[in-house]
Amino acid sequence: MATFNLLLLPGDGIGVETMVEVERIIDFFNRSGRATFNTQSDLVGGAAYDAHGVAITDAAMDKAQKADAVIFGSVGGPKWADVPYAVRPEAGLLRLRKDLGLFANLRPAICYPALADASSLKRELVEGLDIMIVRELTGGVYFCEPKEIVTLENGEKRAIDTQIYTTSEIERIAKAAFDLARKRGNKVHSAEKHNVMRTGVLWKEVVTEVHRSYAPDVQLEHILADNCAMQLVRNPKQFDVIVTDNLFGDVLSDEAAMATGSLGMLPSASLGAVDAATGKRKALYEPVHGSAPDIAGKGLANPIATIASFGMALRYSCDMGAEADLLDQAIAGVLAAGYRTGDIMQSGMKQVGTAEMGGAILDELKKLAD
Ligand code: NAD
Ligand code: IPM
Ligand code: MN
Repeated sequence: MATFNLLLLPGDGIGVETMVEVERIIDFFNRSGRATFNTQSDLVGGAAYDAHGVAITDAAMDKAQKADAVIFGSVGGPKWADVPYAVRPEAGLLRLRKDLGLFANLRPAICYPALADASSLKRELVEGLDIMIVRELTGGVYFCEPKEIVTLENGEKRAIDTQIYTTSEIERIAKAAFDLARKRGNKVHSAEKHNVMRTGVLWKEVVTEVHRSYAPDVQLEHILADNCAMQLVRNPKQFDVIVTDNLFGDVLSDEAAMATGSLGMLPSASLGAVDAATGKRKALYEPVHGSAPDIAGKGLANPIATIASFGMALRYSCDMGAEADLLDQAIAGVLAAGYRTGDIMQSGMKQVGTAEMGGAILDELKKLAD
């Protein structure tokens, strides 16, 4: 039986609550003999800051480097609003992405049939929606130098963030997007702002060049990122794969989440390059949402984004596509049976908390796996 070493990093806020539900599912897979998952846990974000004064320790980074997959909850919150910038909770997640080389962030926005009326968009716009946002995750304005606040001679302050992209960075994310499109609807929209940004000009040029090896079966359309944001709420089903930079991908994926019903529904996979020698790649799986300070600690969070992120780990890191499909079916089944956390609540449905939703998914999974 295959054995996988997982590092669980629940983090802060609702990440702690939703990770409990993932652990129950891991436990089920272990007991049912489908695989052996060895799990270790560590602190990240504000929890790591409180214990160690940093957003992630070198020891936790070392565990992440050695794991087959990292399962991440969420970080941040008002408690850490005034900690030094370098050790703010979010810095832990950014270090994981950068040091593990997780350049490809896959954010699927799927509208489950039972949730077509839970979306803030009309049913006919979202029914059957299945978009994959491919976000570049280790470059751009998130990481480039200079990145600082300086005081000028006249006493005024000036803040600087820098956006840089190189040919090879754009090539590898474009390839990831075209490869995915080939397994889906064969259509890629590349979103940038070549009308304003030099990085947009290069992005468009390189994506066009990479596309030559994928034409004519994969179709490419360039779209300005602002128009892409508008089209996502006008007619989201026109999209199959959207490839975009780090910052646009952050914003567009939160927007796409609402088409599915809630930010609490969106999982993601952050993947590194495949190692030619071992055939493996570094990977971290995380919900798209944050620590949700407004509902944290109350047992109200929707655990589906974190559970489905573990589903992506089964698919992309464990070669357990059949089990990932079962987990997706279990989520769809529980939603069809009317279970709803507050964020996706509709009249006539059964409102439940985090543990009840996780428990219902686990029960459904057990039935399906029999
Ligand atoms: P957020 O995603 O935490 O919350 C936005 C809204 O969505 C809130 O109203 C929240 O209650 C709701 N929401 C999010 N996830 C939900 C879920 N699973 N179930 C039900 N409702 C859910 O974004 P924010 O409020 O802008 O940020 C809060 C903190 O989280 C900040 O410190 C931010 O930096 C951090 N953050 C972390 C991550 C991460 O760890 N990956 C991602 C985004 C934001
Ligand atoms: C996300 C989050 C992160 C980001 C933060 C917490 C660093 O918003 O994963 O979407 O901006 O990438
Ligand atoms: Mn975000």
